[in-house]
Amino acid sequence: MARTSDIEKAAGALRAGGLVAFPTETVYGLGANAENSAAVARVFQVKGRPPTHPLIVHIGGAEHLGGWVEDVPATARLLAERFWPGPLTLVLRRGRRVPLEATGGLETVAVRVPDHPVALALLSAFGGGVAAPSANRFGSVSPTTANHVRAELGDAVDFVLDGGPCEVGVESTIVDVTGDTPSILRPGGVTREGLEAVLGCPLAVHSTSRVRVPGQHPSHYAPRARVVLVEPEKVVAEAEIAQELGHQVGVLLPPSFADAPVKAHAVVAVPGSTAAYARGLYGFLRELDQRGCDLVVASLPMEEGLGLAIANRLRRAAGPRSSE
Ligand code: TXA
Ligand code: MG
Repeated sequence: MARTSDIEKAAGALRAGGLVAFPTETVYGLGANAENSAAVARVFQVKGRPPTHPLIVHIGGAEHLGGWVEDVPATARLLAERFWPGPLTLVLRRGRRVPLEATGGLETVAVRVPDHPVALALLSAFGGGVAAPSANRFGSVSPTTANHVRAELGDAVDFVLDGGPCEVGVESTIVDVTGDTPSILRPGGVTREGLEAVLGCPLAVHSTSRVRVPGQHPSHYAPRARVVLVEPEKVVAEAEIAQELGHQVGVLLPPSFADAPVKAHAVVAVPGSTAAYARGLYGFLRELDQRGCDLVVASLPMEEGLGLAIANRLRRAAGPRSSE
């Protein structure tokens, strides 16, 4: 677990233009000083991410929004008050402190206040904004432990702050508040129902938008193994057929079939609660990769509450691969 001296070292690395991996409540981030264009450029390079895909700027609290965003509409204020610190990212008009490198050339910027003591301590010690995508290579599964980061990015990162496993496990919900009506650009840790309760109106979930959002590419959040989605009652049969065909099959076994015997290479019983499923999801996918599976058979949970974000990530993971 990160100590005060680690926080100081990490803040120093950010000031020196270095890259720091840090825990948030959602997933680990790969952070750079948001105002240092060269450091931001290194984030894209290390991730292998095209420079047109914008980063999220992390700040220590809504009271620090000045300079990072141009104005704060009433809707944004309402959502920030209710959900920050927390797994909610707001897309607002870009303020003067944000270089275009961080927004991929956009005049809008994504901002959030993470709800993790280590992240907040880092932001406080550093004093500025930290531009950070998830600390994984472009297109792959986000890290939810410091070991995931070390395994995937290793020496490319100047400092890894260890804050234990992430509580939420899927990324933040991204809400665009620049238009007349807010809309969800990516479902995540704050539920659609929770947002609607605060706003008092239904929210659209835009699976495509005018900006290019990496999470909206067909294959994203993907393990090495190919992911196949079937109805829950077909998971066991589908796994057995694929295993007989010579695949090393990994199974995400739905809770209602937890006791079913499965002929497969590796089986993970999906937790009954969606919060526990979200927390474990990326770790399960990594585990099945590590155990040598080349095919993962899974089903979608009900798309309500955190189930919406889980289903979104599973669909992305099952999307067509660019190499095919
Ligand atoms: O939970 C999270 O959001 C984590 C932690 C580290 O905070 N971060 C994360 O970052 O998931 P990343 O880069 O993997 O995903 C950020 C998403 C991308 O899909 C990006 O396109 C979108 O935010 N985004 C950033 N700026 C945007 C903007 N101005 N307009 C629309 N989408 C934007
Ligand atoms: Mg990401």
